[in-house]
Amino acid sequence: MRLNHRFALIFSVFGLAIAAAFQIIQFRDVHRAGYASARGMADVTASAVAALVSDEARQGHMASLSAHLQSIIREAGLASVAAFDSHGRRILGRYDSPTSLHRRLHPGVSIEDSSDGIYDLEKPEYLGRYGYGKVCVSYHIEALRARMKAMDAQSIRFGAMSFIAIALLAWLLGTFLGMRIESLVPRLEHLPDDPENFRPIRATGKDEFSRVVAAFNRLGSRLKEETRRRLDLEEERDDLMAMLVHDLKTPLTVISSGVALLEESASQANKRTFGLLRLSVGRLRRMVEDILQLSRLEAVGESLEIAPVDMASLARACAKDFEIIAAEKGHAVSLDLPEKAPPAVMGDSVLLRRVLDNLLYNAIEHTPPGGKILISLENRKDLITLSVSDSGPGIPKEARADIFRKFYSKEMKRHVGNVGLGLALCEKVILRHGGTIAIGDAVPHGARFYFTLPASKAA
Ligand SMILES: Nc1ncnc2c1ncn2[C@@H]1O[C@H](COP(=O)(O)OP(=O)(O)OP(=O)(O)O)[C@@H](O)[C@H]1O
Ligand SMILES: [Mg+2]
Repeated sequence: MRLNHRFALIFSVFGLAIAAAFQIIQFRDVHRAGYASARGMADVTASAVAALVSDEARQGHMASLSAHLQSIIREAGLASVAAFDSHGRRILGRYDSPTSLHRRLHPGVSIEDSSDGIYDLEKPEYLGRYGYGKVCVSYHIEALRARMKAMDAQSIRFGAMSFIAIALLAWLLGTFLGMRIESLVPRLEHLPDDPENFRPIRATGKDEFSRVVAAFNRLGSRLKEETRRRLDLEEERDDLMAMLVHDLKTPLTVISSGVALLEESASQANKRTFGLLRLSVGRLRRMVEDILQLSRLEAVGESLEIAPVDMASLARACAKDFEIIAAEKGHAVSLDLPEKAPPAVMGDSVLLRRVLDNLLYNAIEHTPPGGKILISLENRKDLITLSVSDSGPGIPKEARADIFRKFYSKEMKRHVGNVGLGLALCEKVILRHGGTIAIGDAVPHGARFYFTLPASKAA
């Protein structure tokens, strides 16, 4: 359920509960007031009638009193008037109808609890020769009840209308509040992903929510500024590095050809030293190439030279080129290629070769001497997967997510002279080809780096 709907629902339920409580209190008060005023009037009338009966009884005018009472009953709309002597015997009784005559009086029952629609009130009086007796006056209360019912119906109508109004108002209020918060949530969520495109939200009021929005605006602007500054710095650093590395290439080529020349004419004793020199210069050149290639790949708009690439031939050539280096460390490099030539992939052969070179170089470098390295190729569902497995220490699971980052070194052992760019370059190249690269475990132990590219449709 969306936040604004949830808010609206909560507000409406609370609004309705408050309205219902008001309605119940009002019902109770109206009924109380209605019965209290009716009781008061009945009491006054009963006292007056009782006083009249007492007067007439004391003077012995009981006969004329009967006729008098009959007219009082008619005019006042009473049900009956009856008098009882000190022994409880009826000495006088006048009724508005035969029903009133035959009913049992119940003077102790309150006006609210009367079950037959008549309320009886009893007054003790001195009745002359009849001693101290009682006068009982009975009132019709159906009309009062009907009036109460009509009032109830009216207040239910009012109540229902106010229910609807309150619920509507609460719903609108809840929706408004919920929408204000909802408008902020996606902006907050997206801020860390794209701080560069941060746009402030309008905040006019001074309430807590406006303060939250203002704080968010400050945070976003600060983050945007910092991100820009960091990106500028990174760009500057990359440019500087690319320039430096580029300038390193020429002297390195000179050194490399010089070393090769000197190695040819060197004595047997110096040959080993020159061999080491050649290897070091080779490594240095590879690093320089990686850095240059990475900055080229990162440059926007730099396009690849796409052509069909036979990955099996690429794997074969790579394994052959690394044979000597692997042998120097006592590693055995083997190939596992499908019998049927797999379809080619569309890609930049130079860059894909660099990926394979880097993976193989890593396997050779990071596996203790005497290891086993396997390059295998699979073709499944028009996806070509190439993997390089070794029998080295493997990559710890917690490092796998970050290992493709440039210069990543946390928890990882780096060889002297390595910079930490190889895997970053591999990932960039594979992603630019629309493929994926990942790390797994080799059997029985070791690292398995593999990348997958879509097979060319033309093949
Ligand atoms: N096959 C592997 N076995 C064990 N660890 C590996 C393997 N491949 C890479 N690593 C670890 O990952 C780190 C990063 O590799 P990456 O190729 O990016 O950099 P590098 O080899 O250290 O330097 P560079 O390739 O730039 O010369 C390495 O330093 C190493 O610790
Ligand atoms: Mg490497």
